[in-house]
Amino acid sequence: MLLILNGPNLNRLGLREPGVYGSQTLEDLERQCEAWGAELGEAVTCRQSNYEGQLLEWIQEAQEQGFGGIVINPGALTHYSYALRDAISGQPLPVVEVHISNVDAREEFRHRSVTAAVCKGKISGLGFLGYRLGMEYLIEGAGA
Ligand code: DQA
Repeated sequence: MLLILNGPNLNRLGLREPGVYGSQTLEDLERQCEAWGAELGEAVTCRQSNYEGQLLEWIQEAQEQGFGGIVINPGALTHYSYALRDAISGQPLPVVEVHISNVDAREEFRHRSVTAAVCKGKISGLGFLGYRLGMEYLIEGAGA
C-alpha cells in the first residue's frame, strides 16, 4: 500500500501556471495514480495539504497505518523545510521525491532540495509520469 502526498499549492494544479504545471488538476493526478496502482497491483492512498504540520503527521503515521512507501511532492517546502526533512529521515519507509516541473531549469532557489538527501531519490521534470516512476520503484526496486 502506497501513500502519495502532495504539498502546498498542488491543489491548484490546472489553474496554477499551466505553462509550467500543465492543465490537468489534482483530481486528475490522484485518479491517475489510483489507476496506475490498480495496474501495478498496489493500493494507493492520495492526500494533499497546504499545511506543513499535516504533512509531517501523515509521514510520521504512515508505517503504523500500513503503508510500505511514500511518493511525495513537497512543493515549495522542498526548498527550506528542515521539519519535513526530519519527518522523512525519522521514519523507516522508503520515500521518493517527485516534482512535476524541472526544478533545476527554473529559479535558483528551486535548485536546492533539503529533502532529497533523505529520500531514496528524486524525479523532476517528467510531469505526472514521475509519480508513476516513483510508485514503480517503491513496488519493484526499494528492497533490492
Ligand atoms: C514543484 C516545484 C516546486 O519548486 C514548487 O514550489 C511547487 C511544485 C513541482 O512539482 O514542480 O509547488 O514541487
